[in-house]
Amino acid sequence: MNSYDSDRIAEILLLAGHIKTSLPEDADIVVINTCNVREKAQEKLFSDLGRIALIKAKAAEKGRSVIILVVGCVAQALGKEIFARADCVDIVLGPQAYQNIQKSIEEVISQKQCPEVKMQKNFIVDTTMSAEDKFKLLPRNRTLVKLPSAFISIQEGCDKFCTYCSVPYTRGREYSRPTSEIISEANQLVSSGAREIFLLGQNVSAYNGKYSSSAVCSFTELLFLISSIKGVERIRYTTSHPCDITTELMKAHKEISSLMPFIHLPAQSGSDIILKKMNRGYSRSQYIKIINEFRKILPNIAFSSDFIVGFPGETETDFEATCALVDEVSYAQAYSFKYSPRPQTPSSKWDQIDEQTKIRRLAVLQEIINKHQLHYNQSMEGKELLVLIEKEGRYENQVIGKTEYMQSVHLSAPKNFIGKVFPVKISRGFQNSLSGKLVG
Ligand code: 5AD
Ligand code: SF4
Repeated sequence: MNSYDSDRIAEILLLAGHIKTSLPEDADIVVINTCNVREKAQEKLFSDLGRIALIKAKAAEKGRSVIILVVGCVAQALGKEIFARADCVDIVLGPQAYQNIQKSIEEVISQKQCPEVKMQKNFIVDTTMSAEDKFKLLPRNRTLVKLPSAFISIQEGCDKFCTYCSVPYTRGREYSRPTSEIISEANQLVSSGAREIFLLGQNVSAYNGKYSSSAVCSFTELLFLISSIKGVERIRYTTSHPCDITTELMKAHKEISSLMPFIHLPAQSGSDIILKKMNRGYSRSQYIKIINEFRKILPNIAFSSDFIVGFPGETETDFEATCALVDEVSYAQAYSFKYSPRPQTPSSKWDQIDEQTKIRRLAVLQEIINKHQLHYNQSMEGKELLVLIEKEGRYENQVIGKTEYMQSVHLSAPKNFIGKVFPVKISRGFQNSLSGKLVG
């Protein structure tokens, strides 16, 4: 999602006449887009700002002023507190307020040009939260598209309020973009060369955008609409919440051939007690039931997940239940994190698990996840898979593509194969990728 936002920010700035530099030392404007999900990501902002403050000071010595912007979820969560921790920053914009970025920059430039205010800095903070207004004001055309797989944000914000998560406080309430806006963005991306449309949202399965003045479109209906666009060869989406998975969506995976058989379905924990404390809204058995129903409809479907270890109150038995869930589902891949207390959230005020326990549990869980991932990748050896060639590899004549199941594949092929789907015979399965040969 941040990658999508960063592209949109760059599109606004390019349209306003700015140009991209390759080195931060050459920039007159530095924009840092931020993540607030875990403390580590937030701390990264301040270490980056430390480095950029030095660049700004050096530029000032030469009489050149540099404008620094902090955008995104840390901007939303900390607001003007950012200026107190890093006074090199000029502008702070929340994730639903970056459409105004050019206006804010112009304001700072005009302040800098005015001798009376030259010495006394007027900071700009905009943490308005209206996703609807943001999307309305973004440039119509997507000019910075990563091909052949292109992201589209279809839904933003979240109403689920999991007790560990800062997203509802930083991205705001759930908002679904109108269907026509998404379809026209998809059409435009395909005409620019996109072959895969990757739909994004905090909770895409709850999508209910306006279709017409009197009708709303469900997520499954949106998938059918996107699949009917000529040129869309692959559709992916992330993230879905187990509580919003419908039978229609499961069936759509069988009915829409371009919808990839891979689902990111975060479980977070395998313990019913922890799931309840997390306010996830489902039990372990309900989660397993969804997985099994998907597999009944589409036996080869692959799953990935997110897990948090060391949530307040997590006992050894709770943690073992998470490990057992990973063994039971046998994910194709999964992300796992140490619980990080986020100040706005309820669980940050509860009794915390010590760091050593978190570190140990994370290592144990990751070993189990890796075992399943390696096993899954090795199970592809000898099979012929359809691979979308996405980019050049590190070596001469090497390209990298993705299987339908989201695995990276390294193979030899000419560069002009990028953007096309080819059958590839898999020769080896490794921990994080596959290698193979073009068939025929
Ligand atoms: N601590 C650790 N991980 C978190 N996530 C969200 N909030 C936290 C937190 N406070 C993880 C969840 C989510 C993923 C995007 O980040 O697993 O699915
Ligand atoms: Fe955060 Fe996802 Fe829970 Fe929403 S559903 S509160 S984004 S973890």
